[in-house]
Amino acid sequence: MSFSLQPTPPARPNRCQLFGPGSRPAIFEKMAASAADVINLDLEDSVAPSDKDSARANIIQATHDIDWGTKTLSVRINGLDTPYWYRDVVDLLEQASDRLDQIMIPKVGNASDIYAVDALATSIEAAKGRKKPIQFEVIIESAAGVSHVEEIAAASPRMAAMSLGAADFAASMGMQTTGIGGTQENYYMLHEGQKHWSDPWHWAQAAIVAACRTHGVLPVDGPFGDFSDDDGFRAQARRSATLGMVGKWAIHPKQVAIANEVFTPSDEAVAEAREILAAMDEAKAKGEGATVYKGRLVDIASIKQAEVIVKQSEMIAKA
Ligand code: COA
Ligand code: MG
Repeated sequence: MSFSLQPTPPARPNRCQLFGPGSRPAIFEKMAASAADVINLDLEDSVAPSDKDSARANIIQATHDIDWGTKTLSVRINGLDTPYWYRDVVDLLEQASDRLDQIMIPKVGNASDIYAVDALATSIEAAKGRKKPIQFEVIIESAAGVSHVEEIAAASPRMAAMSLGAADFAASMGMQTTGIGGTQENYYMLHEGQKHWSDPWHWAQAAIVAACRTHGVLPVDGPFGDFSDDDGFRAQARRSATLGMVGKWAIHPKQVAIANEVFTPSDEAVAEAREILAAMDEAKAKGEGATVYKGRLVDIASIKQAEVIVKQSEMIAKA
């Protein structure tokens, strides 16, 4: 560990973020009743330009009227390259109830984007006497975003979470795919005539995890477009969890349970982590820094690995 300690991210479950268009208020109650930890009401790309004003009004109303329970409630605003975003921020922070926890800023390219929204949000909060500072989550979904990912993670104390947006990211990078996440047919290595598929999203995900962990922000995997493919969603989510991400978006309610399953450490994983901690307690009592657990080395680093799993499981159980 360097002299600067790694800050801890917000201690709340973020296993699944369920999205729904702000222009479809009929599903808001269903979203509130879902098992998702985070709700993202959308003003951006699932809302047609002609519906932006009414979607904003629907969402503001829903922050007052709907019981969102203990969920984190977030609204995705429009991008800073549109004529809509300032009105999104102004109306939400002037009119939404204090139940609103977060705004999600899409297509973030650098720290100045966060600075602009932070300045506006800070001014409105002061003017309106809002007691609860709004948190920010962002989507990394462009070449600029991934190039500046660390300055973005560090841009404001409001920063709580960061997601990879596969579709816009692929377009911005010029990737030859129309898929939203998941396995890409043409991304393979050939070995003795056999195809071995690689993961084209891996590099961007790892960059996001590193930036987030450095600055105490939650790293999240974004959408998986083919909601008919449960196994594909599960495989993508498992890779993300293995890389250190804490959750994944659901763009259809059927994806919520799978995300919750993958991002909740399994009973077996927690039991094994506790056994490793117990084995290391015994080793320490004997003055040893390393020992053998099930035929493999465990040492002081293993304590930290095991604690990641145990702490995640305890935090989810408490929520
Ligand atoms: N949240 C909660 N419930 C939802 C839902 C959502 N996002 N999407 C659909 N439902 C409900 C439907 O109302 C329906 O309920 P019912 O059984 O009571 O009638 C049920 O789930 C099954 O819905 P289904 O018919 O399979 O889907 P649909 O055609 O109504 O909607 C989508 C499919 C993809 C258009 C819709 O899920 C959606 O808009 N997803 C989010 C898109 C989005 O926000 N994108 C931006 C982020 S990438
Ligand atoms: Mg996008």
